Amino acid sequence: MKLLVTGGAGFIGSEFVRQAVDKGLDVIVVDKLTYAGDLERLKDVNDKITFYKADITNKEFIEHIFQKEKPDVVVHWAAESHVDRSILDASPFIKTNVEGTQVLLDAAKNLGVKQFINIATDEVYGELGEEGQFYEDTPLIPNSPYSVSKASADMLGRAYYKTYGLPVITVRPSNNYGWWQYPEKLIPVVILKALNEEPIPVYGTGQNVREWLFVSDCAEAVFEIIEKGKEGEIYNVGSGEERRNIEVVKAILDILNKPEDLITFVKDRPGHDFRYSLNTEKIEKEIGWKAKVKFEEGIEKTVKWYLDNLDWVEKKLEYLKDYWKKVYS
Ligand SMILES: NC(=O)c1ccc[n+]([C@@H]2O[C@H](COP(=O)([O-])OP(=O)(O)OC[C@H]3O[C@@H](n4cnc5c(N)ncnc54)[C@H](O)[C@@H]3O)[C@@H](O)[C@H]2O)c1
Repeated sequence: MKLLVTGGAGFIGSEFVRQAVDKGLDVIVVDKLTYAGDLERLKDVNDKITFYKADITNKEFIEHIFQKEKPDVVVHWAAESHVDRSILDASPFIKTNVEGTQVLLDAAKNLGVKQFINIATDEVYGELGEEGQFYEDTPLIPNSPYSVSKASADMLGRAYYKTYGLPVITVRPSNNYGWWQYPEKLIPVVILKALNEEPIPVYGTGQNVREWLFVSDCAEAVFEIIEKGKEGEIYNVGSGEERRNIEVVKAILDILNKPEDLITFVKDRPGHDFRYSLNTEKIEKEIGWKAKVKFEEGIEKTVKWYLDNLDWVEKKLEYLKDYWKKVYS
């Protein structure tokens, strides 16, 4: 099986590529290498993949890659992925997440691929209160420019299945964490700030709830879906490991043995969704997949990885300082 993986130099995409190489699959990676993309994540598998530095919005180049490589399966991870950045400027989110997805769907349709795995997110559903869960048929009511762009891409996939019969499967994972995550997302930000004993910015009162999925579990779920999923279907991929942001921060401080008075509550993110929670009965029953990594185990592994890889993180810090000023001021 030949896989074409977009966003394979990103946080989750690179985990998926490493696992694909381990399985002996033929992998083509297409990635623009934005600020969030980094080939270092693929250093252990570099010589076993084919890499194209390409923007998924570049229709001609994408068509050329598809016609040349003739992949069987497309796994589409590439995206602008950070909610806070989408609040500062929505344009790249619409361009990459919406237009880019359309370019890929067209290229896949023109080639006649066997499967197109469209990676969406739990954020497409909007927000929940303290109770309730999102099911695959829950209406999409996204709130941030990021989640709206992802919901559009999600619906475009549906349209290509319904209209052209393109074998699209939609995957909606919950919040991922783990090794190689770019240090602008909550968990690596907290680890770095705590290590440097700097104030740790927490939005609002820290009561927002996210469902934490370890990155290797997310990638494994997608392989199971490739094997057993049905075209035209949607699968939630969650862990059941719901935690309030403040609980996540305290768990990290505890592992690092740092004081809780580093926690600094900052002005809430505009339109901040309160809670996400995925119902995962469908993937459990139809595919037989369930997340393995419990939050306490995953967060230990994650903190350890950052401690062992501080040189990688430090390369990103100069760029991040200005960004941090913009979002947390
Ligand atoms: N991180 C999460 O918690 C989470 C949860 C649910 C869904 N997702 C989805 O999973 C996917 C991967 O998320 P991530 O956290 O690994 O993201 P990431 O930001 O770490 O990686 C995104 C990758 O896409 C590449 N990219 C961006 N724009 C591109 C373009 N125009 N052309 C080609 N490549 C481009 C980047 O260079 C980068 O390598 C995204 O679609 C995201 O919406 C993420």
